[in-house]
Amino acid sequence: MTDVSMTVNGKAATGSVEGRTLLVQFLREDLGLTGTHVGCDTSQCGACVVHVNGKAVKACTMLAAEADGAEVTTIEGMAAPDGTLNTVQQAFQDHHGLQCGFCTPGMVMSAAALLEENPSPSEQEIREYLEGNICRCTGYHNIVKAIMAASGQDVTAIAAE
Ligand code: FES
Ligand code: FES
Repeated sequence: MTDVSMTVNGKAATGSVEGRTLLVQFLREDLGLTGTHVGCDTSQCGACVVHVNGKAVKACTMLAAEADGAEVTTIEGMAAPDGTLNTVQQAFQDHHGLQCGFCTPGMVMSAAALLEENPSPSEQEIREYLEGNICRCTGYHNIVKAIMAASGQDVTAIAAE
């Protein structure tokens, strides 16, 4: 077992993990942060995306031990302490960017990372960035629209499905 310590959603988090323990397991099972989902065992779905040191990472592709000392943000860390949704979350709600919601935490985390890198992405850039996030419900249209809206862009051009 290896001791790990990291900052998760602004708070110190410590634990003792096996060498094979994935970051997503540590977050969900040890810290109880079950907003980060597991939708596959092939690193394809993106339901597990979190931020590690400000970058979007599939938490099923990283060992918990590798995140030792890192700053990690999960979906639970996105809203304000009073529950006010952040801009991306609010845009998903406003533009119906979700149906079952299973992919949504990963989508929101990926979208937030994209907007950090590129505050005003084109529709095509959004679609390309989300290549690693699979949604089985929405057809992506409203997700793209929500992200464009979160970036402050006019979404009327892509308003019709
Ligand atoms: Fe599917 Fe991580 S759980 S990519
Ligand atoms: Fe159901 Fe995306 S909203 S998988």
